[in-house]
Amino acid sequence: MNKSIIIAGTGSYLPEKIITNHDIAKTVDTSDEWVYTRSGIKERRIAKSEEAASDMALISAKRAIENAKLKPEDIDLVIVTTVTPDMMFPSTACILQAKLGIRNNIPCFDIEAACSGFVYGVEVASKMMKSGYYKNALVVSSEKLSGILDWQDRNTCVLFGDGSGAVVLSTSEEKDVGILDTVLGADGSDTATLKLPAGGSLMPASKETVENRQHFIQMNGREVFKHAVKIMGEKSFEVIERYGITPNEISLLIPHQANTRIIESVAKRLKLPMEKVFVNIEKYGNTSSASIPIALDEALKAGKIKKGDYILFVAFGAGLTWGATLVKWH
Ligand SMILES: CC(C)(COP(=O)(O)OP(=O)(O)OC[C@H]1O[C@@H](n2cnc3c(N)ncnc32)[C@H](O)[C@@H]1OP(=O)(O)O)[C@@H](O)C(=O)NCCC(=O)NCCS
Repeated sequence: MNKSIIIAGTGSYLPEKIITNHDIAKTVDTSDEWVYTRSGIKERRIAKSEEAASDMALISAKRAIENAKLKPEDIDLVIVTTVTPDMMFPSTACILQAKLGIRNNIPCFDIEAACSGFVYGVEVASKMMKSGYYKNALVVSSEKLSGILDWQDRNTCVLFGDGSGAVVLSTSEEKDVGILDTVLGADGSDTATLKLPAGGSLMPASKETVENRQHFIQMNGREVFKHAVKIMGEKSFEVIERYGITPNEISLLIPHQANTRIIESVAKRLKLPMEKVFVNIEKYGNTSSASIPIALDEALKAGKIKKGDYILFVAFGAGLTWGATLVKWH
């Protein structure tokens, strides 16, 4: 099928509750100055205890469907990307399908590629749509990281937040617009730098895993930082060059929001001025796979994207995983 796959609608949802660096500094040995200068984060949103990934996904998904001027029943594929599914199984995508009240004869599944999940999800959905069998796919990234953070560990608890972002991908007759190209990759030899060790088949939940705080994110921040800077820069170049344009033709870079210093180094590598880079990490922290679709939704609402613009998504996460997607706005 040589139809284009466009982003027909976007939506996002951030929980109301704000926790500032100053709030966190009351319970762990940190400061607003340390967190802001090292990461660019000032505050993050925290979901209610009873609010699950699917509840946040439901709101962002409804907003994206409405923004695409569609109805839930027009959706024929649902992909959720998350490291914080409602439960091990069934998938959060199936739970979301039921909450949206949509048809039961469509595929619904989760993708777990950590912070690269949205880029993976868009690639999988758009390639499935190229088969010609799907017209409108919903890709929703929803993360409740507050539930898997060790609030006694200053190395990690200051960096993450909760939220959800969604897109509706639709087929279009217009040529050479929408999702132009994507590069994906992974290096599974380095699982130790960023992980949540317990609760899976390797280390099922036990009294010991709870006592040893193994149901929380563990991270070697310095290692992650080094890899992220290198790979996000390389993969941005790769997808841009493979499509045959140059970095200065990019109108807006929408990177995974993990750390302002990582984002700035990617921009520098691409020789992009920071005006061409969307950054909202100050308000939300790292919302894992939800960060790019939340940023995309905000960039569109702020009027930062117009027809004909080349947009670049680039992400990096646990796995290690990475991905970059080049989009031409329709
Ligand atoms: C975590 C990160 C902000 C740390 O910044 P950094 O400049 O690398 O920090 P440094 O390694 O120089 O400093 C670490 C020191 O600060 C301390 N520290 C860590 N967290 C702290 C906090 N919240 N407040 C105060 N001090 C803290 C550490 O204990 C360490 O102290 P030590 O040197 O005495 O052992 C940074 O490495 C980072 O963002 N990494 C990537 C993380 C990420 O994006 N993960 C998700 C990827 S998708």
